[in-house]
Amino acid sequence: MGDFGNKLSWAVGKKRVMCVGTTTIDFVATIKNFPVENNVEKATGGYFIRGGNASNNCTVLSNLGVKVEFFGMLSSLRMYQVLIDDLKARGIIIENCPTCDQHAPFATVILTKSTKTRNIINCNNNFPYVSIEDFRKLDLSKYGWIHMRALYFDKMLTIVKEFAAYNATREEKIILSIEFDANLEEMWPLIDYCDYAFFSKQLAQTNGWVSTEDACMQLDERLRMRWGLNLKRPYVIVLWGDQGSGFMDLHGKYTHVKPYKPKRIVDALGAGDTFVGSFIYAIYIRERSLPVAVDFGNRMASYKCTKNGYDHIAKILLPPKL
Ligand code: FRU
Repeated sequence: MGDFGNKLSWAVGKKRVMCVGTTTIDFVATIKNFPVENNVEKATGGYFIRGGNASNNCTVLSNLGVKVEFFGMLSSLRMYQVLIDDLKARGIIIENCPTCDQHAPFATVILTKSTKTRNIINCNNNFPYVSIEDFRKLDLSKYGWIHMRALYFDKMLTIVKEFAAYNATREEKIILSIEFDANLEEMWPLIDYCDYAFFSKQLAQTNGWVSTEDACMQLDERLRMRWGLNLKRPYVIVLWGDQGSGFMDLHGKYTHVKPYKPKRIVDALGAGDTFVGSFIYAIYIRERSLPVAVDFGNRMASYKCTKNGYDHIAKILLPPKL
């Protein structure tokens, strides 16, 4: 047995998990106080890392011993080879990723010690997203779970409809999860096609949500107001950082799951992505119940914040030292 116990054995017999999205370079700097305009600040530390929601979900899942595939556009420019090398080195499957010769997206991230906050400045430069044709080339029989972020509505609607048509012909269905973190009005119709829907606290302000419970109640109302035949109702999970998470079962029953306070907050970048990856692991690989999976997601998201990056997170699976 290696350092991480028998984590790989849990995933035996499970089909791949695929996370769809983009991979970026995150330039992260830690500073004492948030910069004043026109000042030169000295960072107390810094690093750069492969980032992006789907790409981070993959890192978390692969660190937990899961056979995972990243599906997204990759840059073929030499300087971004580092992203491809890192994905490969971690055993994250990228065999179906299309490539282009544009600069990869990047994010400038500022972690401020005094306020324990993190700011992200995204620079996407209109980097292309995978096309419907790219999707159609996938051999869907390889996947047990597909996770996507609600983005590019028209494209995604076509894709999720095709998943639904595929699932309708199969005994063993692909589980589909979607993360909603922006433009909820536009993205809302995607909800009819997913099994698990994650909602981020970032939506609170525009939607007037004041808590996880309020978010769930408002989402429940919207889910009940839909009309149409055989509409799927997903499990709803609302992520709210230091307020913990809330979830609703298929009947709209709400439960709050308390947060875990990190021992120290070093780096909160990707805590939400860690929650999602860990949740998928708990539900799909470990076959745990919804409350247990949400609690595990909270615990992992909190633990992620105690260090930079994601490589420490699987240590939580180790039995406590005697
Ligand atoms: C963290 C993250 C970063 C990425 C940014 C994109 O959640 O995925 O890795 O740069 O968000 O918004």
